Amino acid sequence: MIKIIALFFIIFNNLNSIELITAIPATPNYDKNKALLGKMLFFDKRLSQNNTISCSSCHNISSGGDDNLSVSFGIYKKQGTRNSPTVLNARYNEIQFWDGRATSLHTQVLGPIHNPVEMDSNFDEIVLKLKNDKSFLESFLLIYPNGINEFNISDAISEFEKTLTTPNSKFDKFLKGDKLSLSKDELKGYKTFKEYGCISCHNGVNIGGNLIQKIGIVDNYNTDDLGRYYVTKDESDKFYFKVPTLRNIDLTAPYFHDGKVGTLKEAVEKMIKYQIGYLLDDEDIENIVKFLKTLNGDLPKFIKDTENEKINN
Ligand code: HEC
Ligand code: HEC
Repeated sequence: MIKIIALFFIIFNNLNSIELITAIPATPNYDKNKALLGKMLFFDKRLSQNNTISCSSCHNISSGGDDNLSVSFGIYKKQGTRNSPTVLNARYNEIQFWDGRATSLHTQVLGPIHNPVEMDSNFDEIVLKLKNDKSFLESFLLIYPNGINEFNISDAISEFEKTLTTPNSKFDKFLKGDKLSLSKDELKGYKTFKEYGCISCHNGVNIGGNLIQKIGIVDNYNTDDLGRYYVTKDESDKFYFKVPTLRNIDLTAPYFHDGKVGTLKEAVEKMIKYQIGYLLDDEDIENIVKFLKTLNGDLPKFIKDTENEKINN
């Protein structure tokens, strides 16, 4: 459906009347007790085989929800092949992972836990370790009376991830009617973003996260990663990747699935070269970058078990 809407807008170039991007809700809905437990698990290194790596090792919530490395390092400093995407606003992605192989946060959790170059563990080991921790077991049973198991662990972690949203960006204020929240240049950047069709792929509440598209539509992008092909084994899926969210994009360099793109300006230039194929002058590019920087929202405050006690991370 979104694809059809996008096509409609490209053909008629009537981009000013309806917004294809929506603001992040001011307060996310989630189950607080499960999320508090999930928060403990998100930071718990026992989820990795040798107790050295937690989810937070590669998804640092206070610095953009990723690790700011080209590719991530797992246990024993094993090097992965892909750039760590942000967990901020991941709840608003319709698909997870660069190749879209998970469709929910709940099933996504299984990926890193089993991945030999990430946490290289399994639920039998993890459940055993956690059960041996009496006080942890007690807290767990209060929320999940049927005990520590794979389903409940993934459920709690994904509930915590639901708290990780970044509302109130300058751009969301604009979408909500505060037309002065964007400067002239930022507004020009947004117009160019729409007019040149960036919005046909990067749209929805997460300005991405809902489509799989080819990298290299108008020019071949040099990568060894075949992307979506690994999931479907369909030739026509080679070099297809999830269109990533552009929210907080200023905080999550380096960019692209291979982490080979160092700056936001370079990422925009590459998108123009590989996905759009038009020439844009430097001023247009600078303005798109300025617009993208308006997508930084309020970083999530870590939820705490009492309402008044909140930590700014
Ligand atoms: C060693 C680093 C590392 C660890 C540890 C790790 N991740 Fe990731 N995470 C990644 C990388 C790299 C990807 C992208 C992998 C891919 O697309 O194939 C990813 C993808 C994700 C995504 C999908 C986001 C998106 O936009 O597609 C979520 C959500 C996520 N991780 C959450 C978690 C959780 C929860 C844990 C702990 C259970 C965890 N990660 C542990 C590196 C890591
Ligand atoms: C045909 C779909 C499509 C169009 C059009 C498109 N993009 Fe993308 N964009 C993608 C995909 C797919 C990726 C991921 C590429 C990869 O990692 O290999 C991406 C990645 C990005 C990234 C890097 C995000 C990250 O976290 O690494 C930025 C920034 C970006 N696009 C901005 C733009 C801008 C600005 C435009 C317009 C000039 C644009 N895109 C047009 C599909 C598109």
